[in-house]
Amino acid sequence: MRTLLRALLAAALLCLAPALPAHAADHVYDFEDGTTQGWAPRGDGVSVTVTAGAAHGGTGSLLTTGRTATWHGATLAAPFVKGVTYRVSAYARLDTGQPDATIALTVQRTPAGGETTYERVAAATVTDGAWVRLAGTYLFTADSTDLQLYAESSDATGRYLLDDVVLAPQGDPTREPVTTGFEDGTAQDWSPRASAVLAATTDAAHEGTRSLAVTGRSASWDGPAFNVLGRMGKGDKYDLSVWVRLGPDTPSGRLGLSIERRSAGTPSYERVVPPTDVPAGEWVRLAGTYTLSRDVDFLSLYLESDTGTFPFYLDDFAMTYVAPKPIQTDIPALKDRVPFTLGSALTLPDSLGVHGELLARHFNGITPGNEMKWDATEPREGEFAFADADALVGFGVEHGMTIRGHTLAWHSQTPAWVFENADKATLLARLENHVRTLVTRYKGKIAVWDVVNEVVDENQPDGLRRSPWYEITGLDFIRTAFRVAHEADPDAKLFINDYNTEYPRKREALYALVKKLKAEGVPIDGVGHQLHLNIEQPPASNVEDTIERFATLGVRQQVTELDVSVYTDFVSSYDTIASELLAEQGHRYKELFDVFRRQAARLDSVTVWGESDDVSWLNTWPITRLDAPLLFDRDLQAKPAYWAVADPSKLSPRVRRLEAPAAEVVLDGKRDLQWDLLPDAPIARVGAVSAGLQARTGAAGTYVLAEVTDPTVSAADRVTITVGGVTRTVTRAGGPRAAVRPTAAGYRVEALVPKGTDVDVTVRDGGTAISWTGKVTAAPAVKLTTAAHRAPVLDGVVDAAWRAAPQVRTGTRIQGTSGASAAVRSLWNGSTLYVLAEVTDPVLSEESADAWQQDSVEIFVDPGNGKTKGYTDDDGQYRVSFSGRLTVGGTFDAAGVKDNLTAVAKVVPGGYVVEAAIKVPTVPLRPGTLLGFDVQVNDATGATRTAAATWSDATGRSYLDTSHWGVLRLS
Ligand code: XIL
Repeated sequence: MRTLLRALLAAALLCLAPALPAHAADHVYDFEDGTTQGWAPRGDGVSVTVTAGAAHGGTGSLLTTGRTATWHGATLAAPFVKGVTYRVSAYARLDTGQPDATIALTVQRTPAGGETTYERVAAATVTDGAWVRLAGTYLFTADSTDLQLYAESSDATGRYLLDDVVLAPQGDPTREPVTTGFEDGTAQDWSPRASAVLAATTDAAHEGTRSLAVTGRSASWDGPAFNVLGRMGKGDKYDLSVWVRLGPDTPSGRLGLSIERRSAGTPSYERVVPPTDVPAGEWVRLAGTYTLSRDVDFLSLYLESDTGTFPFYLDDFAMTYVAPKPIQTDIPALKDRVPFTLGSALTLPDSLGVHGELLARHFNGITPGNEMKWDATEPREGEFAFADADALVGFGVEHGMTIRGHTLAWHSQTPAWVFENADKATLLARLENHVRTLVTRYKGKIAVWDVVNEVVDENQPDGLRRSPWYEITGLDFIRTAFRVAHEADPDAKLFINDYNTEYPRKREALYALVKKLKAEGVPIDGVGHQLHLNIEQPPASNVEDTIERFATLGVRQQVTELDVSVYTDFVSSYDTIASELLAEQGHRYKELFDVFRRQAARLDSVTVWGESDDVSWLNTWPITRLDAPLLFDRDLQAKPAYWAVADPSKLSPRVRRLEAPAAEVVLDGKRDLQWDLLPDAPIARVGAVSAGLQARTGAAGTYVLAEVTDPTVSAADRVTITVGGVTRTVTRAGGPRAAVRPTAAGYRVEALVPKGTDVDVTVRDGGTAISWTGKVTAAPAVKLTTAAHRAPVLDGVVDAAWRAAPQVRTGTRIQGTSGASAAVRSLWNGSTLYVLAEVTDPVLSEESADAWQQDSVEIFVDPGNGKTKGYTDDDGQYRVSFSGRLTVGGTFDAAGVKDNLTAVAKVVPGGYVVEAAIKVPTVPLRPGTLLGFDVQVNDATGATRTAAATWSDATGRSYLDTSHWGVLRLS
């Protein structure tokens, strides 16, 4: 029976994709030619004639007389085609003297093997005084015979006129907009999922006078559902929108919009709009998009609450097909432009429609983004699900693509059962079964497996992530996964994959692990560098250093998940992304692909984590925001990032920015402390030449520092500095008002040039030139203070040890014009930094639930003094409230810094004292070490912060951006 039902549904579905003549013409019946145009009497004694006595348009209309039953009337052998939606309209009027009646247009139809049905298409109350319009839509989807469209009347004997009947085929039903506003007083095709009661009502309306009241719900998922089977096409995208309001006596509730889909009989539930707060008495719009990515035999959209069965109203539902922009076919295929496999991650919908076309055109590799993860492939022990993974592998095979399998063992997207009641043997047995099943299934089709993913944590003493895998098995899960994968497919290349491998500490932790496992004989073929980067960080040179480092291990390497977020922090969010940012991103991609091309002998493939910005995971991670990290935009059109790969000569010139803090520098070619206060702005490597740049604003002009990496000495080597159109040239032998010294990797130039904003610095090495072109702006001097080498007792009492350190004040106001401030001293000992803040703040408050809105001191520490926009993983914001509450901020999860702080706070007359100890495990502390450093005092009045002051950073963004912190030098 089930099978039969399914077959019937499938047949019905097939019927829904009719081969439509393009722009099928409307059928019009205007009775202007004097004939009945195919309309005939229905019922004994009925007569149908054309009359010139009345007309809606022109001079003739159709008169029906002689009726003796309500279903008597004028009828037409209807030209309706199965699966095509028709807009049906007509004008009706009663013959003079007839009493008012309801005239209806109805379709009589006999489905194959079924009983004759009568379907009302349109109806209205009609009088003898005026022409009234009848309108509705009609669609049938089962093979049928004897289709008749006829007009009937509630008055069994009434005489009526018809004119200008139009049957307009609406084309593909999957392209038709659907709207329901309940103004006709019906539920308009909405039906309850279970026992809920739906009724059109005038008690509330978003627009017009009616909405749909939903009462009597039996569960959070019970409520109104709308059948959209046949209304959505596979691979097509739809905008969905509906307004909701809580029912009477419902103080609060959350409502969302979901889709129930059944594919091959298996139901899935997908959220289009997650349950959203609906404040009492307000209409709230739930809006989202949905792409149908599978064949379905049931498809229904419905409203549900997160909990509860409260009543609600819904109104003004709309579903509209979103037509995709065609992909560009006049631009080069990216895969032809690079000397390695160019891959893209994809999920099931991305293999369809224009997304599928874009992938096939530009990429010769794919990585399923989610479909091969454990939660997708083995949701319950021993129950494997491969439909989606198979579909993507099929897509890859069909297009001759190299397929990366992602991923066999990971701590994320792994069902809870895997670790439940698992001792080591059980867990390894589960792993073995999983790995063997997947790798065997795709043997010969999947060329590369990410066998283990993200197992390194450089903040652990042994460099290994504390996942359940590790906690239960130590390193054995890695050993087992590689062994079994190798047994299952000896030809597959087996990879260990991780993020942040371009940062030295993580790089070294992964390096040590791979080296150890390889030495044991674990069959690791390669290292995958995810490369989730951002527009600023890290420099391309980090990536190159990583590739060169792993080359010494003799492993294969692949870039596996490249993307370049336009954000440098985990908080910001733009409404639109500025074109300058996209242009800058293009230059970032160019620098990266320069590295990949140079390193092509070591790199099998480069995979981007998604083909186009609309499908990037960064739209919802780490927060929901608009991002644009990929090569193609949301309409699948080429971005500057695309041209960076396809043809960098098409990029618009790069405009960079550099601050020149106030300072006087001795021109002697030495790198004095002043230059070490800030990192050099990188000019990325081309050929063998690269450089770092800095500037300072002095009384007599701008000081420029160029640290040039150029291993081959030549008389033609030179740096030219152009300010406001005037060019100064410095060779290895020197130049006017410039000093040059050789360095280990090249040479250093210090030059004094006239002040000016528009600056170009070009470094030449033979035929190769690299440039920095942009705006240089004067800035306040970089703040510098010293930490003395002592250890204090952390007890809130200012002991004598502190006197060894100089005192600075938080004199930079970032909020308010007066308020709390602190005198600050620093000490260091071993790998710990100590900070004393003596705060003047007579009125203290911890009323706010936000730690930053309480009276508190924040200490900012950047161990590498990287001065990065955005935090890198050892940058920390350490907050101590006057009562000694500790809070720590860092990158998204603050994993690298969260345990670094201990502190004591003590209230004293007129304020409080904070003594803090901050562990700095990531750089060696020794005399001369420079740390990025700042201190901020938050001043609360009641439950809000009303003033704040820092030592250095005037931007108010020290919690997001380390680039304007000062410098602490260890003595
Ligand atoms: C991401 C997917 O793209 C998302 O759709 C999913 O919600 C979370 O995982 N590192 C990895 C990938 O190895 O598997 C992750 O993929 C992105 C980070």
